Amino acid sequence: MITIKDKLITINTDNTTYQMKVSDYGHLLHLYYGVKTAGDMSYTLCYYDRGYAPVPNDLEGDRTYSMDVLPQEYSCFGNSDFRTVPLIVKDENGASGIDLRFESAEVRDGKYSIDKLPSAYANEGDDAKTLIVTLKDVADLVRVKLYYGVLPHVDVITRYACVENISDHTISINKISSLQLDLRWGKYEVLHLRGRYGTERMKERKRLVHGNTVFGSRRGISSHQENPFMMLVDESTSETAGEAYGFSLLYSGNFTNEIEIDPSEQTRLVTGLSDELFEKHLRAGETFDSPEAVMSYTDQGMEQLSYNFHRFVRKNICKGPYKESRRPVLINNWEATYFDFTGDKLVAIAKKAKELGVELFVLDDGWFGKRDNDWCALGDWYVNEEKLGGPLKRVADEIRAMGMKFGLWIEPEMVSEDSDFYRAHPDYAFAIPGRKPVRGRSQLVLDYSRKEVVDAVFDQIARVIDATGIDYLKIDMNRSIHEAYSAEAKDQNRGVILHEYVLGMYDFLDRLNKRYPDMFIEGCCGGGGRFDMGMLSFVPQIWCSDNTDANERLWIQHGTSFGYPMSTIGAHVSAVPNHQTGRITPIRTRGAVAMCGGFGYELDLNLLSDEDREEVKKQIEVYKKDWKIIQQGRYFRLSDPTEEPFAVAWEYAAEDKSSAILTIVYIKSVCNGPVPFIHLRGLDPDADYYLEETDQHISGAALMNAGLPVPPFAKREHDSIMIHLVRQ
Ligand code: GLA
Repeated sequence: MITIKDKLITINTDNTTYQMKVSDYGHLLHLYYGVKTAGDMSYTLCYYDRGYAPVPNDLEGDRTYSMDVLPQEYSCFGNSDFRTVPLIVKDENGASGIDLRFESAEVRDGKYSIDKLPSAYANEGDDAKTLIVTLKDVADLVRVKLYYGVLPHVDVITRYACVENISDHTISINKISSLQLDLRWGKYEVLHLRGRYGTERMKERKRLVHGNTVFGSRRGISSHQENPFMMLVDESTSETAGEAYGFSLLYSGNFTNEIEIDPSEQTRLVTGLSDELFEKHLRAGETFDSPEAVMSYTDQGMEQLSYNFHRFVRKNICKGPYKESRRPVLINNWEATYFDFTGDKLVAIAKKAKELGVELFVLDDGWFGKRDNDWCALGDWYVNEEKLGGPLKRVADEIRAMGMKFGLWIEPEMVSEDSDFYRAHPDYAFAIPGRKPVRGRSQLVLDYSRKEVVDAVFDQIARVIDATGIDYLKIDMNRSIHEAYSAEAKDQNRGVILHEYVLGMYDFLDRLNKRYPDMFIEGCCGGGGRFDMGMLSFVPQIWCSDNTDANERLWIQHGTSFGYPMSTIGAHVSAVPNHQTGRITPIRTRGAVAMCGGFGYELDLNLLSDEDREEVKKQIEVYKKDWKIIQQGRYFRLSDPTEEPFAVAWEYAAEDKSSAILTIVYIKSVCNGPVPFIHLRGLDPDADYYLEETDQHISGAALMNAGLPVPPFAKREHDSIMIHLVRQ
């Protein structure tokens, strides 16, 4: 799978090959990443005089070898490469100039892990391997170890870089990325997931032009505005054909994705920690690890690339008891009550939900301190017994006595100025001395770079969990971070506070997982503002968006599916008119759209009509029966909501093709309109399928090749149909 021969290093996964070579001068050059290909591809390196291109000093007049044009594996500022580089290091005098040359390479069994940072892990049968390539600066300033984790059966290669200061002075790292990829041929487009609060992960595909295209987050969180996942695709690539490279980062803070088309028409991609204001001081002998990046490739279109990522996230990122098992159908009280509830009101909502088949009651914001609005009490993680009419345990026990599980919302990284916690520890919040801190949702951010802050919050929350007995936690984070100035940070850490913050947050999640190994934990960040593989390494599911409108969710969930499996998406049926958009959609459609890995309700079911309540009951039965195919089946985007004028469709198909679920939502009703056709995928072409809801027998080949005319169910806009297909 990994071979090192005559300074040629080759990684093979089941369907891809990745190759690099040490040049005669010791530079690590990148040769190839693409379809599985045998042989030595160093013949593809073209050495010729590029006219005034810089040339390393030891080349004795050879002007055909320039770092500014050669494809490199992990370039650095100072080796005369003027393109975007992944590494910038300064010596003790502030001079940036390192030149990394090959030192050694070794292969180990299994997949590496990274201290304090999340990383993918291997399961039995994954046949994972690790490659470590070590480079050293010619003037002995740093040693850089490049790690490659190979998961051959999902065609994923993971990467990270570790920099060691081998000088006897303190140096600084001013940029460190996780992954560089140089592609010398091909004309690529980038597909990235942009957005805003309530409209996360909108797919956007655009042509790359010369110069740099840069995406990222400087908000302290991976953000609603830009997701760390992206694809590079050929101009002709579609869902089902063509080249696609996918990249993602296991990181939940500031990141930068850069793609440069250089003057020689070559493409360079660099992804990793944002270097804006980044400065890590490294004392002699110290090391610094970048977060992990992952990449995958296929020549079979975007659908196959997403499938690689889906399997990888489900199997090699998510952990814990809810990784593969059915998530309980939940009811959350947020949109039902907001802050306005009593213990009895909660019990009444839970009671109706239980009657209809709901299994878990989640008490959202407002149960602690004096929290009756979003101006106060964050940080005071003790129960508001006055509001609840007694201890939280009493409410939880009453709900559990009905046969339901009990869950709770927390927002551990935040503090309100109007809270006992802030009054006792004002220095625990980020703030620049002499300046009033910017508020976001009327709250401040706690300095999680300090262990004592994490300890203080963790202890409070653990006390509530232990006293009440909690089956589920929703961990929220509702603002971005502005003034990341830590009262405690030593000089060495000033330029990495936001990174230290992310490590502190991961530590909090890790402690929770270790202390409560059976708990079901869902991530959240003002909806989906921290939907990334870093978070998914600790929680198997993330609340996808605060926007619960079934129509809007079509776009949000479609975009999310490019990089993340449906099993990671939390989605709820909420009331109409929808609280975010005012739109009215039928309960049937709200149920069909919310039917992802994490299915639930967020409204007072007492207020529904009897007819709608019957529909809810049916939906819950469907989810309980079909959860496995939804959560673990293969997901197909059958139409693109950004391009489809009438009907949006998607499909979950069992891996063995024995069954599938097709969902169609009619997004626009027109008078005497055309009949859209839906072409299914992932079926057995040689078998017949029975379509339960339309009572038809049609061959798999016909459904995929001729397609299915959208049945005339759409009596009104936003109506929908779920069709179960069973192989005969
Ligand atoms: C955020 C979450 C919501 C809800 C509120 C509570 O906005 O995304 O689901 O929990 O906070 O304040």
